[in-house]
Amino acid sequence: MDPVRNPYVPGAGRKPAALVGRDATIKSWHVALERAERSVTDQPFVLYGLRGVGKTVLLTQLRHDAEARGWMTAQLEAGSSRGSGSANKSLRMLLGEALYEPLSDLVRPNAGARFLKALKTALSFKASYDATGTWTFGVDLSGTPGGGADSGILDTDLRKIIKDVSLAARDDGIGLAVLIDEAQELAEEELTTMASVTQAAAQDNWPVLFAFAGLPSLPQTFAEAKSYSERFQYSHIERLDEQDAEEALAKPARDADVEWESSALAHVVEASGRYPYFLQQFGQEAWNCANGTVITLQDATLGVAKGQQLLDNGFFRARWDRATAKEKRYMRAMCPEGDAGVGSSEVASRMEATINSLGPTRAQLIHKGLIYAPDHGVVAFTVPGMADFIARQVD
Ligand SMILES: Nc1ncnc2c1ncn2[C@@H]1O[C@H](COP(=O)(O)OP(=O)(O)OP(=O)(O)O)[C@@H](O)[C@H]1O
Ligand SMILES: [Mg+2]
Repeated sequence: MDPVRNPYVPGAGRKPAALVGRDATIKSWHVALERAERSVTDQPFVLYGLRGVGKTVLLTQLRHDAEARGWMTAQLEAGSSRGSGSANKSLRMLLGEALYEPLSDLVRPNAGARFLKALKTALSFKASYDATGTWTFGVDLSGTPGGGADSGILDTDLRKIIKDVSLAARDDGIGLAVLIDEAQELAEEELTTMASVTQAAAQDNWPVLFAFAGLPSLPQTFAEAKSYSERFQYSHIERLDEQDAEEALAKPARDADVEWESSALAHVVEASGRYPYFLQQFGQEAWNCANGTVITLQDATLGVAKGQQLLDNGFFRARWDRATAKEKRYMRAMCPEGDAGVGSSEVASRMEATINSLGPTRAQLIHKGLIYAPDHGVVAFTVPGMADFIARQVD
């Protein structure tokens, strides 16, 4: 079928034609937005789950929902680097840069005192990480109070900028939403600081909502950072149930007057393990294989085979190639359990090595985001289907 009209979109963060199975989180977020507008600030949202399950897409949806209510939003990805090989950008810088546009959008001649104060504070925040650059908002802030978000102490500065900006938003009947993707990449100090700033926000009812997305280790990471993070609103983003998985494929087709044979639908759902990324990939290939306006079982079978090849050469291979020879051996030793976790001691004994000697390898694999620790002394793949992929590799 016409590939130009293909509605399926495999790829990191790409908005699916049908976003299914996430209604509960979206609904809670709506409630939180409305409550914040009435001066009751709910605890941060934490979306955690495996690679390709749909965290970024959901986080982006939450941002759009906030924007639809006129809110100021800042969405950022922790750990994004300045370029290959160089250091990660700090949370301070990422947040500062993400706030510039929403703030400039609200600049107007008759802006209120609280908004001008927020601008002045934002300028000082900018200066705290960028000594040479400065922002121009096109308004005279010389006589305005504010500033002071450049003490260099992360907690003080973040608290100040979040407070001043969100209180300025309140004057417009809106709030500020801060959405942080790949939050497991935050440095420990950044995570602790975020946790305590969100706590202050909830305590004093600043109209600001936070949402964090990251790997399954994220709740544990928060728990270790601050005890009151146990009150955060955790959503485990999981693979879809059968009905939603079918709908993720069927709805975009229906909207384009294309139909899936039910056996074809069942085949793709089964082959995908109901993981959103794989559904999109297989759906895309099955569509391209089909002629006419019906996707048959034959198209689906061929589509899955082609899709699998694309995943092997892209999605999986990109991650596999990031591992050193020793790290690959470690991951191979994890394979018998498939996607379920395995004890690090078991891995060590399979490699005829000690847990201690493998510590750095394990840490590197966690750092690279290839594995995580679902429990103390246990490791598991962050990517669904990784074990099967490794079994298919010769090197
Ligand atoms: N609820 C959903 N319904 C249908 N398709 C979805 C859904 N969520 C995500 N997808 C699709 O799955 C793919 C992966 O989504 P996304 O990048 O958000 O995953 P992720 O969890 O952020 O992955 P990673 O951990 O690698 O960043 C995209 O192609 C997206 O279109
Ligand atoms: Mg993502």
